[in-house]
Amino acid sequence: MTLPIRIAPSVLAADFAKLGQEIRDVTAAGADWIHLDVMDGHFVPNISFGPDVIKSVRSYTDATFDCHLMIAPVDAYLEAFAKAGCDRITVHAESGPHLHRSLQTVRNLGKKVGVTLNPATPLSVIENVIDDIDLILIMSVNPGFGGQKFIPAMAGKIAAAKSLIGDRPIELQVDGGVTLETAPIVGKAGANVLVAGSAIFKAGSPEAYRSEIAALRAAAEAGRV
Ligand code: DX5
Ligand code: ZN
Repeated sequence: MTLPIRIAPSVLAADFAKLGQEIRDVTAAGADWIHLDVMDGHFVPNISFGPDVIKSVRSYTDATFDCHLMIAPVDAYLEAFAKAGCDRITVHAESGPHLHRSLQTVRNLGKKVGVTLNPATPLSVIENVIDDIDLILIMSVNPGFGGQKFIPAMAGKIAAAKSLIGDRPIELQVDGGVTLETAPIVGKAGANVLVAGSAIFKAGSPEAYRSEIAALRAAAEAGRV
């Protein structure tokens, strides 16, 4: 199954002093999903924002809120993120001992279910939950910070995830170091959702957001053929 290329700007690289406006601007510039990176200073060595901030910017766009939780433990917080207005919730396989339970909790909250893997985590941890998920996120950097370099070996992992998915309607997302140079590589490997923080928000203006999003989409699509 071929799903459309989707561009998901990560607001981690946005200007937090005007987060609502940044989300409005990037939506108008053609973003498909808004990627929300939640960090706890424990699972990852950085702290970003939590459900109250997400709730406060929910009204700035109708676009899908795609929430990437880099927190441990995670289960106790899932309901708060669902209530804050996240449409999709992605949890790290490494963030707790009971991945299946975490995924079921997201499902029971009525949200799209995602699972993500750090670069060193083998794809095999997904095999037994593949029929319980809507999205696989392959981390192409070690999570915690924007602006890092894409790890080249992750292209092979994306391709392996694509074949594990087979005909299932599962979104295949990549996050970290996605630029105009790496977008064709991840498109070719089979990813259809590209998260990009620096490449979009560091472009500097709403007009530049539009051209970056369009260029990333075209580069990923070019990689497919
Ligand atoms: C890293 C985050 C990413 C990050 C991507 O932990 O999950 O979403 O913001 O940033 P760039 O696109 O700058 O690599
Ligand atoms: Zn992310």
